[in-house]
Order: sequence, then C-alpha cells, then structure tokens
Amino acid sequence: MSLEEKLNHLEKMRADAKLGGGEKRIDAQHKKNKLTARERIELLVDPNSFEEFDMFVTHRTSDFGLQDQRILGDGVVTGCGKINGRKVYIFSQDFTVFGGSLSEAHAEKICKIMDMAMKVGAPVIGLNDSGGARIQEGVVSLGGYADIFLRNTLASGVVPQISVILGPCAGGAVYSPAITDFTLMTKGTSYMFVTGPNVVKTVTHEVVTSEELGGAMVHASKSGVAHFACENEADAITKLKRLLQYIPQNNLEDPPFVEGTDPLDREDEQLNHIVPENPNQPYDIKDVITAVVDSGSFLEIHEEFAQNIVVGFAHLGGRSIGIIANQPAVLAGVLDINSSIKGARFIRFCDAFNIPILTFEDVPGFLPGVDQEHGGIIKNGAKLLYAYCEATVPKVTVITRKAYGGAYDVMNSKHVRGDMNYAWPTAEIAVMGPKGAVEIIFKKSIADAKNPEAETQKLTDDYREKFANPFIAASRGYLDDVIEPKTTRPRLIRAFEMLETKKDSNPPKKHGNIPL
Ligand code: HXC
Repeated sequence: MSLEEKLNHLEKMRADAKLGGGEKRIDAQHKKNKLTARERIELLVDPNSFEEFDMFVTHRTSDFGLQDQRILGDGVVTGCGKINGRKVYIFSQDFTVFGGSLSEAHAEKICKIMDMAMKVGAPVIGLNDSGGARIQEGVVSLGGYADIFLRNTLASGVVPQISVILGPCAGGAVYSPAITDFTLMTKGTSYMFVTGPNVVKTVTHEVVTSEELGGAMVHASKSGVAHFACENEADAITKLKRLLQYIPQNNLEDPPFVEGTDPLDREDEQLNHIVPENPNQPYDIKDVITAVVDSGSFLEIHEEFAQNIVVGFAHLGGRSIGIIANQPAVLAGVLDINSSIKGARFIRFCDAFNIPILTFEDVPGFLPGVDQEHGGIIKNGAKLLYAYCEATVPKVTVITRKAYGGAYDVMNSKHVRGDMNYAWPTAEIAVMGPKGAVEIIFKKSIADAKNPEAETQKLTDDYREKFANPFIAASRGYLDDVIEPKTTRPRLIRAFEMLETKKDSNPPKKHGNIPL
C-alpha cells in the first residue's frame, strides 16, 4: 500500500468510527430528542480542542454473533478537551452502538482517561447514555464496571468528577455517577434506577413508569441523587460549564478567581430590614445570599431537594465560595435528615477542593418526630456536624436570626473551628426557643400561677430579653463581631481575604469514620 492509500484507509477508518452505530440509529437517537455522543462533546468543549483517544478500539467477544459486529470505538468516545480554556477528560457513551452498553473494551477506554486525569490533575466528565453491562459479555463487563467504580473512588477528592445522565442508566451502572461529585440529569430523556419498572412490578407488584421511578425530577427532588434537573441536553451542558467556573482542576489547586464589576464595598440597605420583627415570620435566605455575593454569581446546587437548607457556589469579591444556609422560608429552616445529608456532602466537596465555606444561620433546631428519630436523625445530623468539624478550609458564619440548641453548635460555630463568626443584631442564641424553654424551667410556677397564659408570656419575654440576642455569645468571644446587616458583603469579603492564607489540618489517620 502506498502512503496515499494508507492515509485514505486511515480516513475511511475515522469516518467509520464517527458513524458509530450508523445513520439509522443516529436518526433514532435524534428522534428521541437526544444528541449523539460526538455532538454532545462538540457542544461541551472549546472549538477544535478535543483530542480523541482509542477511536479504533473494538470489543473482543465472539459470542452471540458479536464477532460480525465490531464497531470502531465500541460505544464510547473518550479524550481530552478544553472548557473555557481549562483541560477536562471526557467520556461520552454512544447509544447507537449496542445501546451504549459497557463492554470490557469500553470500560478500558473509560479507565484510561480516568487514569490520565489523575496523573494530569484535571476533572473527569462522564456523559452517560447506556443500557448498562454488555449482556453478551457477561462477567467481563461486570468487571469493567468495578474497574470504573474503583477509579471513581480513588479519584474522589483528588479531581472533580461530574456525571451527566442523558439516557438510560440502569443496574449497577448507577453507582459510578453516585460516587462522583455532581450528577446532572435531563428531564424526560434520562432515568436512573438499580432495577427497572419490570423488575419492580415482579418483586413488589408496584406499577410505575421509568420516569416516575427514576426520572430527573424524582432524583432532583425526592432521592437527592441528582443535583440538577435540566430542561434538555443544551441546558445540562450550560449548567455543567457554569459549575466548573467555581471549582479547581484538582485538590492541590485553588478555584479560579473571577474578576467582577460588583464593588467590594457595596452595602445593601435592604438587608437591615430583611429579618421580620416577628421571630416566627419567614423570609427567603436566598434574598440575603444574592444581596451579598457578586451580582448574578449564585449557582444553587440541589435546588429541589431538602429545600430547608440552601447550598450553592458563588463568587465573593471574585473568590469562589461554597454557601450553606438554613432556609427560614421552608419548614422554618429546621435541620432534618435530608437537609443534613445535603449540607454535609456539599461541605465535604468544598473542603476537598479548597473552596472556602460561608454559612448563613437561622435555624430553630433539629426536627422533632418519630419519623425523624426512627429514620436516624441522630446519625444523619451527625454527618453535618462531622463535615463542619473536619473541614479545614476558611469557614465564616453569619447568624442572621435563630441559632438554637445543637444546631448552634453544628452550623459552623466557633467551637467546631469556625474562623470568623458574625451575628446580626437580630440574632437569638440559646439552648432552645423561649416558649419551649420557659415551659420546662418554670413548669411549676406556671402551673401555680393565677393566669398561666399571662405568666408564660411574661416569662417568655424575660427569657427572650436575656438570651435572644447575640451579646452573651459575643461576650465569650464565640462571635467575633456583631455587624450591621447592610455591611455584610464588605465584611465577608474582608474576612475571606484575611483567611486566604489559612493553614489548618487534622490529625494524621488512614481516614475518619463519618457516621454513614
Ligand atoms: C447489549 C444492549 C444492551 C445491553 C441495549 N442494547 N442494552 N446490548 N447489552 N445491556 C442494545 C439493543 O440490543 C439494541 O441493539 C440497542 O442497544 C438499543 O436498544 P433498544 O432496546 O432497541 O432501545 P430502547 O428501546 O431505547 O431501550 C433502551 C433500554 C433497553 C431501556 C436501555 O435496551 C434495555 O432495557 N436494555 C437492557 C438494560 C439492562 O437491563 N441492562 C443490564 C443492567 S444490569 P440494536 O442492535 O437493535 O440496535 C447492569 C449490571 C451492571 O448493568 C453491574 C455493575 C455493578
């Protein structure tokens, strides 16, 4: 063969590989409102930045007639590209090739880019669209999954890992996304479950659709498995790119600094009036967050799940921060099982990747109730506590109103290594709320009173006067300052600037034993 013929052959091989499972299956993919594996990558990366690997890899199976169906690339496109100039490793499963199912060779391609990402220190992005383990391959495809799970686990906390689910994700295949840091799903075209509707019907006699069992909204709002439910694939890719703006390439780097136009000394008068006089009246903590951070920079994570706590990224004076905030507008901002898990997972991501943590606190305590106790609020609430305690990144707290009971300790108090702890003058810090407290400590005198209701009210007022303010905590140094709400932005910018060179560590150990 002449060189020219060889080059022509190469071109033909490339063209064949790019066609994946063929025109007919590509059309079928488009008809389902889904893009192909390569179209997705094109949408994701900077133009001409994608370097593809292993285009000529094929499976090695000859059972079930597969010896006659060797498709170049074997159902996954892998490589390295740039997103806004930053390197990322990507795998994108090609549903047009055996339904994107995972063979031994397919798994090896994914493992190769994961290994490279670890050596190079760059995020891994998985675009998932797969019928799961390649049925014809049996145990070697199961082994391939396990090889991926192991790498997901070893990479956890070293390089960011993000999963985008753009089609089926069933069986054990769900466990790779579950180990990664963030999962995005598309509404109507993606679903995740360990066993599908047919198995569910056989085993539990429940009749349910794929969407009802494991669609994007189910996982974004009920199970918490998905961090984002996206309108469509383009929306998912836009969200993914935005998410990357807040996070570093790896655990040894700082997140990128984003120069903004929002003045560092901007004060906001509306913050002085945001906390209602009536302590039982709600307000939206997101109004506080957006008034404080760089304009337009707040990206909420897990928006639909456990809405009594708000978590998300923002820029503050150009610095990336992670925000955890009790939400008084939902269940009075109480801490329950789901909100504790949501907060804990987010804190651990921030701590692993050098993202300072800002906490806004307005919490009446942990949610009482049989369901919560039997569901393990003790161990689940402890997750949040543990995550705050072990985090060594700069940690700043602002108590806007209630800081009651154990929740005071948990929400990044001074005692769990909060670096700068502020309160607004509206803060109420005590072992429990005034009414509950007086009903316990003055039980007898209330019972003996001529007018128990009036007596309770008087005692409640006294208690509030004594405890429901920030000055006892401030007098102990548990708060570093009591600040005027409107000055919160400049004060926080200064605090994080001050803490920029903070160094802290935990005792050497193999790993801790977070209460799972
Ligand atoms: C091999 C597969 C496949 C698989 C789909 N295909 N799944 N080939 N192994 N797991 C092939 C089909 O034969 C078909 O090939 C093409 O992909 C498209 O599939 P369709 O069924 O035509 O598409 P659709 O109707 O959209 O349905 C998609 C689907 C369905 C819902 C994913 O194919 C399905 O239920 N597949 C099996 C899912 C599953 O049970 N997987 C194993 C899970 S257990 P042609 O040639 O016709 O285009 C698992 C264990 C992992 O994954 C354990 C890790 C610990």
